[in-house]
Amino acid sequence: MTPPASSHPQGRDGGGIFRPWRLGSLEVPNRLVRSATEEGLSTADGAPTQRLVDLTADLARGGVGLIVAGSAFISREGRGATNVTGLDHDALIEPLSRMCAAVHGAGGLLAAQLLHSGSTLRPVMVTEKEGPYGPSAETLDPVCEASVRALTKTQIAGVVGDYARAASRARRAGFDAVQIHAAHGYLIDQFLSPARNRREDAYGGSLKRRARLLYEVYEAVRGAAGPGFPVFIKMSAHAGWPGGMQPHEAAEVAAELDRLGIDAVEVSAGTPEAARRGGWDHIMPAPIPEGRFFAYALTIKDHVGCPVISVEGWRDPRRIAEALERIDAVSLCRPFIREPHLAARWRDGDPAPAKCISCNKCLGLIVDRGLGCIFHKGARGSAIAGA
Ligand SMILES: Cc1cc2nc3c(=O)[nH]c(=O)nc-3n(C[C@H](O)[C@H](O)[C@H](O)COP(=O)(O)O)c2cc1C
Repeated sequence: MTPPASSHPQGRDGGGIFRPWRLGSLEVPNRLVRSATEEGLSTADGAPTQRLVDLTADLARGGVGLIVAGSAFISREGRGATNVTGLDHDALIEPLSRMCAAVHGAGGLLAAQLLHSGSTLRPVMVTEKEGPYGPSAETLDPVCEASVRALTKTQIAGVVGDYARAASRARRAGFDAVQIHAAHGYLIDQFLSPARNRREDAYGGSLKRRARLLYEVYEAVRGAAGPGFPVFIKMSAHAGWPGGMQPHEAAEVAAELDRLGIDAVEVSAGTPEAARRGGWDHIMPAPIPEGRFFAYALTIKDHVGCPVISVEGWRDPRRIAEALERIDAVSLCRPFIREPHLAARWRDGDPAPAKCISCNKCLGLIVDRGLGCIFHKGARGSAIAGA
């Protein structure tokens, strides 16, 4: 699964990293993407705080080619955590436009990530809403630890409409692209899963039926965003346990999305649910193999014509440059929390791997005080380490 070490010398241009590529109509200046990172820095209503605007603009100044903002809920029912960003009502367009303008002013590009959490939500959220909902009723969800209701067909149509309206708001706010979050065990991934989706209607059964929600969401988002607006997807190419979706099925779904016109596929794997069933999660703590899911990205690449982005465990620019001979871009999350200017460091000729040690303390910080790194001086989280 891990690519061989590169023999390529690392020049000042970072080998193949600092070449532009196209995400649909958008030219992205280099091959480094900041993978979506929930920040926990929005108001209860879902508006970004000034701290989130500043953090995102700082990432743009740090030279990353494209920033995918932390997942944004498309509806109140689809909101999985507190203090996350929203795209569920028009009043959020104005505050979000300030974040987009700050990123553009700093020379960056910003994509919104659209999410309905399904039943993969923090237990604290369960009491806040009716539901939680998933494809099928369950007595005890492994993540939210509550009973789950099955979405009715009418509710599914509502979810599809919510995605479309959220995409339209993202475009009007000034985002450069939208990403559909279909990975990590959230609602769309739950529909894709043969274990979670036991429906007997048009949305369950064969892979084609389990993927129907995703295809409808894609078509609705494409329709709302317009033909020239970049739309891409993040998907789990392996559920992380034998009962969930497997790579050959993910490849079939990616190929169909490619046929429908998707502009890129970001390939992740694993789910929190799998971790609770003896499988593996999508955010592995150290020691983490370089490019942990690269093999899955290659499988998807074999089945699509659109660009493929590989996420998880990319830390060494020499290994990244080598991987970029076979895929189009790589995305990183935790390294940019510790070093927001990591791309500029590599671009300017310092080839030392990312300093992130994948300790995963950032995950706790989102809930406690907002995104930060215990080692990053200047981040609020640094108070934990006394830095
Ligand atoms: C603090 C934190 C927040 C995250 N939030 C999101 C998110 O909002 N959407 C998403 O698709 N993935 C999210 N992820 C997963 C990352 O995008 C990425 O897939 C994973 O961390 C592996 O990449 P890395 O090894 O470069 O960190 C998050 C991960 C972390 C550590």
